[in-house]
Amino acid sequence: MSIKDCKLIELPKIPDTRGNLSFIEENKHIPFSIKRVYYLYDVPTDADRGAHGHKTLEQLILSVSGSFEITLNDGVNKQKYLLNKPYQGLYITPMIWRELRNFSSGAMCFVLASDFYKEDDYYRDYQKFLAAVRKKQ
Ligand code: TYD
Repeated sequence: MSIKDCKLIELPKIPDTRGNLSFIEENKHIPFSIKRVYYLYDVPTDADRGAHGHKTLEQLILSVSGSFEITLNDGVNKQKYLLNKPYQGLYITPMIWRELRNFSSGAMCFVLASDFYKEDDYYRDYQKFLAAVRKKQ
């Protein structure tokens, strides 16, 4: 897996003068089934979140309100994304180290995940993540 397999996904948007609407269907707009949804909110603007990788988890990360930055790192290359549109999600494959920062005031980070929360799916130590990436190459 590399950051080239991660991508911004443009979601359907139904424009309406009463307010816009977007939706996501599993295995249609995103390439996985959704087992879990979680969200980050009330994030201080100077806080860093993430700083971990996953062994098998696939995710779609959305900014449903406000903005924040995500840096993806596959152990070789890095790419930074600004998420600031509720109709745009960042698809992240397994084996990607991610760091989230520069949350705007009131930003809400909404995450769709392919599996339940499992602590043993995390790499929380960057050196261990790098060692695992090299082992797979
Ligand atoms: P974590 O994934 O480390 O958050 P971040 O990387 O954004 O800083 O999760 C923070 C804490 O919340 C950690 O103790 C695990 C717990 N948690 C759950 O219990 N269930 C979940 O679905 C998630 C995402 C986290």
